[in-house]
Amino acid sequence: MFGNFTYCNPTKLYFGSASLDNLSRELPKYGPNVTLIYGQGSIQKNGIYDTVLDLLRRSGKTVAEIAGVMPNPTLDKLREGVAIARDHNTDLLLAVGGGSVCDYAKAVAVSVHCPDDPWETYFVRFEEPTCPIVPVGCVLTIAGTGSEMNAGAVITNTETHQKIGHVFASEDVMPRFSILDPTYTLTLPHDQMAAGIYDIFNHICEQYFSGEDDSTSDYLSEGLMRSLLHASRIANRDPQNYEARSNIMWTATWALNTLISRGKSTDWMVHMLGQAVGGYTNATHGMTLSAVSLPYYRHILPYGLAKFKRFAVNVWDVAPEGKSDREVAEAGLAAMEAWMQELGLVMKLSDLGVTEGMLECLADGTVVLPGGYKPLCREDILHIFRESLA
Ligand code: NZQ
Ligand code: ZN
Repeated sequence: MFGNFTYCNPTKLYFGSASLDNLSRELPKYGPNVTLIYGQGSIQKNGIYDTVLDLLRRSGKTVAEIAGVMPNPTLDKLREGVAIARDHNTDLLLAVGGGSVCDYAKAVAVSVHCPDDPWETYFVRFEEPTCPIVPVGCVLTIAGTGSEMNAGAVITNTETHQKIGHVFASEDVMPRFSILDPTYTLTLPHDQMAAGIYDIFNHICEQYFSGEDDSTSDYLSEGLMRSLLHASRIANRDPQNYEARSNIMWTATWALNTLISRGKSTDWMVHMLGQAVGGYTNATHGMTLSAVSLPYYRHILPYGLAKFKRFAVNVWDVAPEGKSDREVAEAGLAAMEAWMQELGLVMKLSDLGVTEGMLECLADGTVVLPGGYKPLCREDILHIFRESLA
C-alpha cells in the first residue's frame, strides 16, 4: 500500500434479529430529550415505530418527532428539522430508516448549534463543524448506503437542483451506535432491495478502481464483491432468505465504513454522475448509479486496463486463457451487465426521465474528482450521459 492513513471508526454496531433490544442499553448514555427521525410511513406499517417509541418511553425519554423525511432529503426539510431539534433541546437524534433518514440526522446534528446557514457552510464551502455536534443513533431499515457507520450526509437543494454529499472529517458526525436487524429489510419492495444492492456494489467499485499498487484494501474489496454477488443472487430469487439478506446488510456496512478506502486515492465518479442526475430527477440513488455505470466504466477501461482485467478474473471468474487483456476486461464488464439485468436495475438514463435537452445541465451539475483512472473533461461527461440515453 502506498497511501498513508489514519483509521478510526467509533460507531458501535448491534447486528442481528431482535438487535433492537439493545436500544435500551444505549439510551441511558444520553440526556432526556430524544428527537426521533423517520421517513414517509414504512416504519409505521411494519411496526418498528411502535416498538421504538415504547423503548424510548420505558427509558423515560421525552420525545419530539421529525416525520416524513423523503428519499434524497431536501434542504427545506433540513431547515424544518433543525428548528424542531433546537426547540426540543435535543440530546440524541435517533434516526429510524434508511440512508436518507440517517444522512438527514447527521445534517441536523451539525446544524442545531451552528449559527450559519447549513447549506452554505457544509454543502457549498464544505466546512467542518466548529459547534457542538448532537449525537446520532441509527436503527437501519434498508441496506445500501453505509450511512449507519460513516460520516457522510447527502442533501438536495431543490432550488438549484444540486445534490451534494459531505463526508465529514469529524468522527463525532458518525452515528454513536447503529442497530442492524436484517429482518427489517424483508419488507422492502424489490426495486429498493435491488437499488441498495447495486449501491453497495458500486461503493466498492468506487474505491477499488483507483491506484496501481498492491493494496490490501483491493483484496478486501474483491471478497466483499464476491460475497455480495452470491447473496444478491439468492435474495433476488428468494427475497425472504434471511441469510442472504443478513450478508447483504453486513456487506453494505463494510463497503462504506472507511475501511476499504484506506491507502487508496478512490474514484467516486459514478456517484458524481449519479448525483447530478439525482439533483434533476429525484430518482432512486442506486438506480442513478446503475444507469451511468457501464458507459462510465467502458469509457475509462483503457486507462485502468490492468485493474479491469483483475476485476474480471477475481470477481467474475472470467478465464483469461486465449484472450487479450482487453478482451478479459470487457468480459468482466459484460458479466457485470448480465448480473445488473438479472437484478432488474435501471440501465438507461432515459428510463429515469432524462432527455437529450437536459444533458448540458447535468454536465454543469457533475463535480469532477481526480482520484480515478481518467480525470473526466466535459466532453467525456457528455459522452457518458449520451451513451446511457441511447
Ligand atoms: O420513507 P419510508 O416510508 O421509510 O420508505 C423508504 C423509502 O421510500 C423505503 N424503505 C426503507 N426501509 C424500508 C422501506 N420500505 C419498506 N420496508 C423497509 N424496511 O425505501 C425508500 C428508500 O429509502 P432511502 O432511505 O432513501 O434509501 P437509501 O438507504 O438507499 O438512502 C438513499 C440516500 O442516501 C444517500 C443517497 O444519495 C440518498 O440520498 N447516500 C448516502 C451515503 C452515505 N451516507 O455515505 C452514500 C451513498 O452513496 C448515498 O449517496
Ligand atoms: Zn451510493
